[in-house]
Amino acid sequence: MSDAEPRTVRVVPNGPLMVQGPVRIEMPDGQIVESDRFMVAVCTCRRSKDYPLCDTSHRCRKRPGAPAKRDAPADKVASAERPA
Ligand code: FES
Repeated sequence: MSDAEPRTVRVVPNGPLMVQGPVRIEMPDGQIVESDRFMVAVCTCRRSKDYPLCDTSHRCRKRPGAPAKRDAPADKVASAERPA
Protein backbone atom coordinates (compact mmCIF):
# COMPACT_ATOMS: atom_id res chain seq x y z
CA MET A 1 0.00 0.00 0.00
CA SER A 2 1.08 3.55 -0.66
CA ASP A 3 0.70 6.54 1.65
CA ALA A 4 0.04 8.74 -1.38
CA GLU A 5 -3.28 10.53 -1.68
CA PRO A 6 -5.67 8.86 -4.09
CA ARG A 7 -5.59 10.48 -7.52
CA THR A 8 -8.88 12.10 -8.49
CA VAL A 9 -10.45 11.15 -11.82
CA ARG A 10 -13.61 13.07 -12.73
CA VAL A 11 -16.03 11.76 -15.34
CA VAL A 12 -17.54 14.53 -17.48
CA PRO A 13 -20.93 13.45 -18.86
CA ASN A 14 -20.63 13.08 -22.66
CA GLY A 15 -17.07 14.33 -22.37
CA PRO A 16 -13.59 13.38 -21.28
CA LEU A 17 -12.16 11.88 -18.14
CA MET A 18 -10.44 14.64 -16.16
CA VAL A 19 -7.31 13.20 -14.57
CA GLN A 20 -4.93 15.00 -12.24
CA GLY A 21 -1.66 15.37 -14.07
CA PRO A 22 1.01 14.85 -14.96
CA VAL A 23 0.05 11.62 -16.73
CA ARG A 24 1.66 9.00 -18.92
CA ILE A 25 -0.80 7.14 -21.12
CA GLU A 26 0.26 3.80 -22.57
CA MET A 27 -1.52 3.07 -25.84
CA PRO A 28 -2.31 -0.46 -27.06
CA ASP A 29 0.38 -0.16 -29.75
CA GLY A 30 3.00 0.71 -27.15
CA GLN A 31 3.02 4.44 -27.89
CA ILE A 32 3.47 6.61 -24.80
CA VAL A 33 1.57 9.89 -24.56
CA GLU A 34 2.59 12.23 -21.78
CA SER A 35 1.06 15.41 -20.46
CA ASP A 36 2.45 17.53 -17.65
CA ARG A 37 -0.67 19.64 -17.27
CA PHE A 38 -2.21 20.05 -13.83
CA MET A 39 -5.45 18.53 -15.12
CA VAL A 40 -5.54 16.35 -18.22
CA ALA A 41 -8.64 15.66 -20.31
CA VAL A 42 -8.54 12.12 -21.66
CA CYS A 43 -10.83 11.56 -24.65
CA THR A 44 -13.55 8.96 -24.26
CA CYS A 45 -15.46 9.66 -27.48
CA ARG A 46 -12.54 8.84 -29.82
CA ARG A 47 -13.34 11.85 -32.02
CA SER A 48 -10.31 13.85 -30.89
CA LYS A 49 -7.70 14.59 -33.54
CA ASP A 50 -5.25 14.57 -30.63
CA TYR A 51 -6.42 11.20 -29.26
CA PRO A 52 -5.99 10.05 -26.49
CA LEU A 53 -6.13 13.66 -25.32
CA CYS A 54 -9.41 15.54 -25.62
CA ASP A 55 -9.53 18.40 -28.15
CA THR A 56 -13.19 19.26 -27.36
CA SER A 57 -14.46 17.51 -30.51
CA HIS A 58 -16.98 15.75 -28.27
CA ARG A 59 -18.91 19.05 -28.14
CA CYS A 60 -19.88 18.62 -31.80
CA ARG A 61 -21.95 15.58 -30.98
CA LYS A 62 -25.62 15.91 -31.80
CA ARG A 63 -28.06 14.75 -29.21
CA PRO A 64 -30.16 11.82 -30.44
CA GLY A 65 -33.50 13.12 -31.70
CA ALA A 66 -32.46 16.77 -31.56
CA PRO A 67 -33.62 18.58 -34.71
CA ALA A 68 -31.02 20.33 -36.81
CA LYS A 69 -31.33 24.11 -36.88
CA ARG A 70 -32.17 24.01 -40.60
CA ASP A 71 -35.11 21.73 -39.84
CA ALA A 72 -36.96 24.29 -37.72
CA PRO A 73 -40.75 24.08 -38.06
CA ALA A 74 -42.31 26.54 -40.53
CA ASP A 75 -44.07 28.49 -37.75
CA LYS A 76 -40.66 29.24 -36.22
CA VAL A 77 -39.31 30.78 -39.42
CA ALA A 78 -39.37 34.59 -39.44
CA SER A 79 -42.30 35.95 -41.46
CA ALA A 80 -39.98 37.75 -43.87
CA GLU A 81 -38.58 34.36 -44.86
CA ARG A 82 -41.97 32.74 -45.52
CA PRO A 83 -43.21 32.46 -49.07
CA ALA A 84 -46.16 34.74 -49.86
S1 FES B 1 -13.96 13.47 -25.10
FE1 FES B 1 -13.38 15.38 -25.86
S2 FES B 1 -12.81 15.00 -27.88
FE2 FES B 1 -13.35 13.07 -27.11
